[in-house]
Parts: sequence; C-alpha cells; structure tokens
Amino acid sequence: MQFIVTPSQLHDARVTVPGDKSVSHRSLMLGSIAEGRTEVTGFLAGEDCLATLAAMRALGVQVDQPTPTNMTIDGVGLHGLREAAGELDLGNSGTAMRLMAGLLVGQDFPSTLTGDESLTSRPMGRIIKPLTMMGAAIESDCDGTPPLQIAGGLRLQGIDYEMPIASAQVKSSILLAGLYAAGTTRVKEPAVTRDHTERMLGSMGVAVGRDQGSISIAGGQALQGCQVEVPADLSSAAFILLAVVLSDNADVLITNVGVNPTRTGVIDILQAMGADIILENPQMLGEEPIADIRVRSSQLQGGDVDPALVSLAIDEFPVLFVAAAAASGKTVFSGIGELRVKESDRIAAMADGMRRLGIEVDESPDGAVVHGGRFGGGTVESYGDHRIAMSLALAGTIADDDVIVEDVAAVDTSFPGFAACMTSIGVDIRVEGV
Ligand code: S3P
Repeated sequence: MQFIVTPSQLHDARVTVPGDKSVSHRSLMLGSIAEGRTEVTGFLAGEDCLATLAAMRALGVQVDQPTPTNMTIDGVGLHGLREAAGELDLGNSGTAMRLMAGLLVGQDFPSTLTGDESLTSRPMGRIIKPLTMMGAAIESDCDGTPPLQIAGGLRLQGIDYEMPIASAQVKSSILLAGLYAAGTTRVKEPAVTRDHTERMLGSMGVAVGRDQGSISIAGGQALQGCQVEVPADLSSAAFILLAVVLSDNADVLITNVGVNPTRTGVIDILQAMGADIILENPQMLGEEPIADIRVRSSQLQGGDVDPALVSLAIDEFPVLFVAAAAASGKTVFSGIGELRVKESDRIAAMADGMRRLGIEVDESPDGAVVHGGRFGGGTVESYGDHRIAMSLALAGTIADDDVIVEDVAAVDTSFPGFAACMTSIGVDIRVEGV
C-alpha cells in the first residue's frame, strides 16, 4: 500500500482523532487484573492495541467489544490470569511487549512473547535487567531481543531502580511487576515520561507514591475495575497540527485531545518555532486532562530544540523533522538517540525520506540538524514505521510535486482512518494498492 499526496489547500474544519494508544493498552492490561468490571470508551481499535486485546483474551480474560471503540473487561483479579495455549504475538507493539513482560513475570505460569520483524529486533535488555533483579527469569535472543520466554511461579522482590534511560515502557513494566512483588518497588526516572500507568492505577484504587522523579508502589494491592474514557491521541493529533500549521490559510479545531503534561512537548516545541496553537475548553476526563486544540496556519522558524522536552515529545520527532524542514534556518535536535530504537531507526528513516525530497539533514548518533528548504516531489520509504509514513505524507501537502510514500500499511497500528481524517481537512491524499 502507498500514499500519494498532492500539494493541497487546507480548509477550516473541526476534527477528532482516534483514542490514545498508551491509555488504550493500559486500560486492557489493568482492567484485566482488576476485580470487577472495567468499561472502556474511546478505545483505539488500531493493530497495536488489538494485539494486547488478543493477548489478554488468550490469558483467559473475557473482553466484550460491542463496537470497535467500546469494551467491557471482566477483570480476573491479580492472580486470575491463566496460561495461554501458545505464544503471545504482540505484532509491532513495543508497549505491549514491555508492559506485558512486567505483568507476566508475576504469574505462576510461563509465557512466551513474540512479535513482527520490527518488534523482534528491538532491545528488551532494558526491562530484562530490572525484572531479573526483582527475581524474574526471562530468556531472550542473545542480543537481548524477543522472543521472550518468561518463567512463571517465581517470587518477586521489590527493588529500588534508577532507570538509565527515560522510558515510560520500562517504568510501567517495573511498576506492573511491582504489584506482584513483596515489599515496595521504587523507580527513579532520569527525565519525566508519560504517567498514564500511575494515573490509571490511581483511579483503580492503587496507592502510587510520587516523589521528586521517583515512583513507588507496594506489592499485593488489589485493583478495582472502573470506567476508563480514553482521550483522543495527541500523538495522532500531531499530524493534523502540523498539516494545518504548514498550510496557507486554515483554522482547525481538534476536539477532546489528551493533553497530559507528560505528552505535550510537541505543542511546546511547535509553539517555540512560531506555530499558532492554543488549548481551549480544558477539562478532566477521569484522571487525564483533555482540551480542544485550535491550530492555524503559521510561519515556522528553526532553532535549538530544548532537550528537556525530548521525553515529553518522544513519538513526535518524525513530525517535528518535517516542521524543521519547512521552517526558516536550521533546527538542531539533540538528545534524541532513543529514536534509533523505535519501530524503525527514526533518525535515519526521516533523514533518508527528507533527503530524497531535497532537504539537507545532518545526522549524529543522538541528534540531527535539519536545514529548512523546499520539499520536491518524489518517492520515499516508510521503513514499515507508521509514524514515518504519516510524517512523510505531510511533506507532500507542501511539496512542489506529488510525494509517494511506500509501504504504509503500518499506519493502522496507531491511526486507523488517517487518510480519511487528512482528507477531511483538505489534504489531497490517495491510498493505492489496498
Ligand atoms: C509508550 C512509551 C514510549 C513511546 C511509545 C508508547 C507507552 O516509549 O515511544 O510509543 O505507552 O508507554 P518509551 O517509553 O520506550 O520511550
């Protein structure tokens, strides 16, 4: 499948984007080990979260999904999961793999976690190390990649762990294992990362301590099923934001978007570059803050992107690279080495795509300098990565000629309906080879 994007005139609109991927995964995992029912609305029916849904069902949890975005989970309690009949295939999802590993090390049965070509080449040492310190036994390929074979029936002990990298997946994995550990588990993060796990555990009645960058949880606490209303995903809204910012004359409102402060780095960075973005109608949706986001066409200027914002915008750098290419002057990104171990090496993938469209990019191991310029037309590769595919499609809206993005099927992992959503704001995008 490919996207063919023709230079476009956007128009005023009011749009919604699908539910938050991180919150959707957590609603399934936490709802499954809660006592009683968890009702989820606004669930992201994208392939990543559907992989988690299939895994929870394979572990014996009854989940009804009367519509794609609504689920009723009959929680089985902390100790009610059952051994799956085979391997749990988590597709493309790093979040599913790392969080499920934390959940499964606490069970009294073994499990095997696997995934697609991308996921089975991603680093798992970052969770294997702390989970092993807690008493878990996990076998991986020799380079620390999946499949993961997780032993069951081991007693876990709480640990005090200083994470070497800022990763919400690692933090959440350890906290989930901490629910099954004796004593208290404490994780210290080097930079603030998304805190959806902490918030959802809180709304399910679990006491989560938070103190100056440390998060702690006492083992053995029961979760109570609850109502989870999933906000729209800011990481998906980011594609709309940038399409509008780059356009000539449009004003778009994106409604009910999650604006948890651990996620809003993309807004801060775009605003610092000159983007006209304002939050309207802020309110709480359960434990998560949401707002409508108004965005208007703007002129962007390059500059140094504040490295302190990296963990708060970790999934938005592909979009921000396109912003940088459209900005005047050069934009310097630093401290973004984690991008190299996402669904693809996102620094290399974006540099390749943008160079093919005539943009100058200098790469370093953990950074990039993007020189503002004009996108020409051409054909680019997504590297099988949903966010690369969608980001490069944005370039097509302001290019001198059509941009063809190859291999875009992965977009369904996080943003089913992406092309239709872009069309609704005036983007001329066609999907071919379906
Ligand atoms: C996620 C955390 C981030 C992010 C991923 C989703 C999560 O990964 O890139 O898309 O739901 O916890 P890291 O925590 O490894 O940076």
